[in-house]
Amino acid sequence: MKRREILAAAACFVVAVAAAATTALGANVSYDHRALVIDGKRRVLISGSIHYPRSTPDVTNLMWPDLLQKSKDGGVDVIETYVFWSGHEPVQNQYNFEGRYDLVQFIKLAAKAGLYVHLRIGPYVCAEWNYGGFPLWLHFIPGIQLRTDNEPYKAEMKRFTAKIVDLMKKEKLYASQGGPIILSQIENEYGNVDSAYGPAAKTYINWAAKMAVSLNTGVPWVMCQQKDAPDPIINTCNGFYCDQFTPNSNNKPKMWTENWSGWFLSFGGAVPYRPVEDLAFAVGRFFQLGGTFQNYYMYHGGTNFGRTSGGPFISTSYDYDAPLDEYGQLRQPKWGHLKDLHKAIKLCEDALLATDPATTSLGSNVEATTYKSGSVCAAFLANTGTSDKTVTFSGNSYKLPAWSVSILPDCKTVAFNTAKVWINAVTVVPSFTREAIDGDSDWSWIDEPVGITKDDAFTKPGLQDQINTTSDQSDYLWYSLSINSEDGAGSQIDVESLGHVLHTFVNGSATGNSNNAKVSEDVPVTLVAGKNTIDLLSVTVGLQNYGAFFDLKGAGITGPVVLKLKNGSAIDLSSQKWTYQVGLKGEGLGLSSGDSAQWVSQSSLPTMKPLVWYKRSFNTPGGDGPLAIDFTGMGKGEAWVNGQSIGRYWPTNIAPSSGCTDSCDYRGSYGANKCLKNCGKPSQTLYHVPRSWLKSTGNTLVLFEENGGDPTKIAFATPQVGSLCAQVSETHPSPVHKWSSDLRAQTKSGPVLSLSCPHPNQVISSIKYASYGTPQGTCGSFNNGQCHSQNTLSIVQKACIGSKNCSIKVSNSTFGEPCGLVRKSLAVEASCT
Ligand code: GAL
Repeated sequence: MKRREILAAAACFVVAVAAAATTALGANVSYDHRALVIDGKRRVLISGSIHYPRSTPDVTNLMWPDLLQKSKDGGVDVIETYVFWSGHEPVQNQYNFEGRYDLVQFIKLAAKAGLYVHLRIGPYVCAEWNYGGFPLWLHFIPGIQLRTDNEPYKAEMKRFTAKIVDLMKKEKLYASQGGPIILSQIENEYGNVDSAYGPAAKTYINWAAKMAVSLNTGVPWVMCQQKDAPDPIINTCNGFYCDQFTPNSNNKPKMWTENWSGWFLSFGGAVPYRPVEDLAFAVGRFFQLGGTFQNYYMYHGGTNFGRTSGGPFISTSYDYDAPLDEYGQLRQPKWGHLKDLHKAIKLCEDALLATDPATTSLGSNVEATTYKSGSVCAAFLANTGTSDKTVTFSGNSYKLPAWSVSILPDCKTVAFNTAKVWINAVTVVPSFTREAIDGDSDWSWIDEPVGITKDDAFTKPGLQDQINTTSDQSDYLWYSLSINSEDGAGSQIDVESLGHVLHTFVNGSATGNSNNAKVSEDVPVTLVAGKNTIDLLSVTVGLQNYGAFFDLKGAGITGPVVLKLKNGSAIDLSSQKWTYQVGLKGEGLGLSSGDSAQWVSQSSLPTMKPLVWYKRSFNTPGGDGPLAIDFTGMGKGEAWVNGQSIGRYWPTNIAPSSGCTDSCDYRGSYGANKCLKNCGKPSQTLYHVPRSWLKSTGNTLVLFEENGGDPTKIAFATPQVGSLCAQVSETHPSPVHKWSSDLRAQTKSGPVLSLSCPHPNQVISSIKYASYGTPQGTCGSFNNGQCHSQNTLSIVQKACIGSKNCSIKVSNSTFGEPCGLVRKSLAVEASCT
């Protein structure tokens, strides 16, 4: 994970709704030193990443349209997505643009929601995606070397890039054709690793740039983290902060293609989160210092279905602590606070685009930036230190909380401060409730045999690399060997593997189990006199997706494998003739679909036994909200509903017991390891089941369990809406939307607390807590401070109960003066039903 820290440190469709890929409006997209220029007009653009295969199109349940609409509502203008080559061309020359890979549909839906698109073709994408998005077959092309100046590779990269560009052109999806695509990316962060590729790197990147430009998309191309991106390609920044970034030419705008809204989760890791105050601060600083295009990576992270997660060990959830959670629900207060931030930035748009920023220091760690041109003026005041400050700017005094940016769309009045999160929030983490699985039939099972059972098994001398052997057709590879023992003396076997998980079976029974990127296992074994079989099951958990030469990393048992006998002698088995079986017998039989005559249903269901397939039927739990399976009770494996893989499950992989903090201080530089939660607990217990894959009854759930588990323990999980909480102080700015009516005559409404139920058909049913004064604690545990206005509860009840949303002015005029000069706030906890 080190590279992440290094990076961090370095670091309308408007018109177009109608155009939605049908009418050809034809926007001209270019750029200058300030911004992207669309139809002659510079633009300030807020962008958000959503990777289409990480959610479902959901014709009936509207997942893609819903995600896109929620992005639009959150103030997003552009959707950024990678293109996933391995999904589109799983077999060379056999394309797939269906279902979750229906890229054209996804882009058209974005257009329909009034959003532009930034299409990051790559086609290397990283993205915590298996093999960085490359299809495995590339690796087997004779003479190929990936991501460098190599003819076979360049031919394939060009062919796929051209294929995508042609498809987009055919569907008229480029802005130049009236479509939503205003930008495209070629390669991905090659600059982070290019030195490892020697002088060929430069030739390659120049070739990639030329190749991309020659495809004539009519819209600009970018390369991210590529300082030497040749003209006319715009080099862009990725990182937790990009305010200090400058493009490599004065003619290019300052663009941020990945502002990491959180971080990804690994099996065995704690859950990363990024406080919205810091995320908003980073965005505020970027626009303050001349940026005009900023993208949240991710705006919706989603789910790594099937075996798409990269690695090794990237979890199935790709939630990312994004503004929309894994299931597509608003993550509050993140979503709402950023929405307000976007509004505040847009209030400055005319000024931002009219001129260059002028920045002055107002003292240590305090910077003021003014954009002033003619009658427009916008200012940003930043406190980059960790203590609060009061500063004087243009003759007025401003309080600037630590690590925050204030936005003044008229150079006078603060419309927004990045640290003042006042949006209502479901801050009591919505908990999931378990619901028993029911259906027509109970669990049945099939044992997966140990060792070699398939007809296509083969024998080769020596230990083979797993990826070269399986071509990633399966996570599983059996390495099997028969040996003779004269006396059957007890002994030990030492196995060295590149990973990722290893199970050792001797004479049919499990003797060891370990996982690590590099596995080195010493297990005691009991031999019998005569013939003994050593069966090693090596398992991959997502192929490497990042780093120089990531594609050559390899996996599996590379040796040595040494048998140590009691008498002290050691036999190296590495160069023996091993028998190999790619994949499981059950995979070959297609058990994941549930159709097979072999399922056993008897009362003696095997549990806590390695290598078992399980199946049962189930009815879909009611409601239309998110649905997950809680896999607590199972070990490790993969799960399918109605034949569709919901991904690898691994609830027994536990996060480290230390390194977490519940209330991470957002002040000071963020890094991927700064704010972690869930220590000592399973990294992931809940696994998303898209409702669009289900019928109301008669669904099939199939599990393949590798380590041993008890399927009767698993349950459905549906979210319970927690409490709705908000706390707003007297010093908060007026709601930012008050600005939009008339910028100059901003109403001095003062701070307002707003509550709004998360689901459309809910109303506020009770006020669990309300205090105007100096309330203490946080959502779920508020209590009165020394100063408390007695009438708060009744006033809030009156204003809110029975409504979907309500707003209350935070001032003495609402509640009376409870205690003189103290700085007061209003805290409310409510519930919706
Ligand atoms: C970036 C990369 C993305 C993703 C991200 C971490 O370096 O470009 O594809 O891997 O890191 O989530």
